Amino acid sequence: MGHSVGFILVLSLLAVAPPCFCGKTIAGGYLYPQFYDHSCPKAQEIVKYIVAKAVAKEARMAASLLRLHFHDCFVKGCDASILLDSSRTIISEKRSNPNRNSARGFEVIDEIKAALEKECPHTVSCADIMALAARDSTVLTGGPNWEVPLGRRDSTGASLSGSNNNIPAPNNTFQTILTKFKLQGLNIVDLVALSGSHTIGNARCTSFRQRLYNQSGNGQPDYTLDQSYAAQLRTNCPRSGGDQNLFFLDFVSPIKFDNSYFKILLAYRGLLNSDQVLFTMSAVSRELVKKYAYNQELFFQQFAKSMIKMGNISPLTGYRGEVRKNCRKVNAY
Ligand code: HEM
Repeated sequence: MGHSVGFILVLSLLAVAPPCFCGKTIAGGYLYPQFYDHSCPKAQEIVKYIVAKAVAKEARMAASLLRLHFHDCFVKGCDASILLDSSRTIISEKRSNPNRNSARGFEVIDEIKAALEKECPHTVSCADIMALAARDSTVLTGGPNWEVPLGRRDSTGASLSGSNNNIPAPNNTFQTILTKFKLQGLNIVDLVALSGSHTIGNARCTSFRQRLYNQSGNGQPDYTLDQSYAAQLRTNCPRSGGDQNLFFLDFVSPIKFDNSYFKILLAYRGLLNSDQVLFTMSAVSRELVKKYAYNQELFFQQFAKSMIKMGNISPLTGYRGEVRKNCRKVNAY
């Protein structure tokens, strides 16, 4: 009797306050910010120093490093699979549609890895380096700070098909994009907040051309794109050619991490179709866009939370995976 009362008590407590599985992975390993405190106490400082140097040399590098972490996490989890070059056994994710002629920052990751191998050999994973570099890039450009949970290990394989299928494309519908986020355990709040990354960085003409000339197959531009902005974009993004020409995702403050991306969406001047649909295709996401456009602090708080959540997608922990010595290839034994 006493037993069952106790049991019911425990059950009802659980119902009121479910246990926190924050940061817990399905395999049972936790990520935590202090992971390298003893094994490589200078790790975070070294990453920050090299990221700062790279961003000082080229402001856009902050955006490129932030995006690398995203493109890594959406494919087999945050396991540095994106960094592997093609080899006898590996078909590199660098060849996928979202990454080809687009993903960048690999040399900066190499430089960080080389410095860390000197400081504490075979200790800091390439996946953790990317998570730290994404955070540092955000802070360096004026965005929020957060403690990065650590302890990810690196994959011994890559997935070209995962890269092609899991990472949303700029011309995907709102529903498709949301579904791709949900498949990674992320929700609509995460989608809108993380899309706020487009407050920094560039996109190529080929990523949004369709909107300028033939959005839905009737030879007309996208009517949800401000027509004078569209005319301006057409001058450097012609009907054909100029595929690689670059445009700021946030033309108001392209190298500053702020909430102007959301203000731009209110003005129908989002560059990518995937940006503008956050305002036009769903009442729930529209309200979130407005909220972040009016309140930068709310955006920053949610961005930090959602980045931690994204960084927790299926990491390899414990004895799974390995700590690569060179981020571009699996270790040889
Ligand atoms: C919601 C779905 C998303 C879509 C469809 C999307 C699509 C794109 C596209 C097409 C580009 C330009 C690529 C090019 O033309 O070379 C881009 C750039 C970028 N994306 Fe996203 N993205 C999404 C979400 C995210 C997320 C979640 C993050 C980070 C957490 C992110 C960070 C970035 C950054 C920083 C850039 C600029 C990169 C640079 O300048 O090198 N994006 N994105």
